[in-house]
Amino acid sequence: MSKKIIIANWKSNPASLKEAVLLAQKTDRAVSKYRSIEVIIAPPFPFLAATKEVLKKTKLGAQNVFWSGGPYTGEVSPTQLKNLGVGYVIVGHSERKIYLGETDELINKKVRAILEIGMSAVLCVGERERIGSEIPAVVGEQLKKALKGVNKKFAKRLLVAYEPVWAISTQPHARPDTPDSAFRAKLYIKRVLAGLYGRSVSEAIRVIYGGSVNSKNISGFLREGKMEGALVGGASLNVQEFAALTRAVR
Ligand code: PGA
Repeated sequence: MSKKIIIANWKSNPASLKEAVLLAQKTDRAVSKYRSIEVIIAPPFPFLAATKEVLKKTKLGAQNVFWSGGPYTGEVSPTQLKNLGVGYVIVGHSERKIYLGETDELINKKVRAILEIGMSAVLCVGERERIGSEIPAVVGEQLKKALKGVNKKFAKRLLVAYEPVWAISTQPHARPDTPDSAFRAKLYIKRVLAGLYGRSVSEAIRVIYGGSVNSKNISGFLREGKMEGALVGGASLNVQEFAALTRAVR
């Protein structure tokens, strides 16, 4: 069985390099004793290099990437991230779709670029609304569009984060999903992946949950929800809370 993976998505926090390095150091130290978990820290771009220097047990992730290097003002290339030691890149996050208008087509280009260069893509999918208990078909559509043309041999490096948008802590009236419906989402995602790549690849791709995860609800998502890890936003900015969360995973 592969290790559970916990990804700290710091979003656009903290405000300074000094705070970022301190947070990375403390987080790394706090989670270092848990061998059975893989912890990834994804700071904002300006803090990647300095964060990398202080990580001993945890790995480095990025929150975004462009699909190429070259004349693209303001963008960061896959090669630049790879050369910095980034192993994981979050892609398709709902905040980028909502505030920056990221499209399925752009997400697809990014996913391909990340996987082809040898990094892992943490592909976020999730519905904006859910009526009733059924997992909306839009989740499967997002997945298929993001993975269009992605070769089976690269797909193994993929991780899928099921993040219902309404469950993300910064959304108005946010509430975490239930372990039971996260489990249904996982089965649905695995089924779509099996349709694209066959059962063994689908089983190898880890499906994790994101949306208001904290130290109290994480074990429900892993145990009853059978999730293979979590993408953690708000709770990753508080070292004590994040340490308690990883303790609960172990
Ligand atoms: P949250 O964020 O844990 O604060 O809900 C998760 C995410 O947006 O990735």
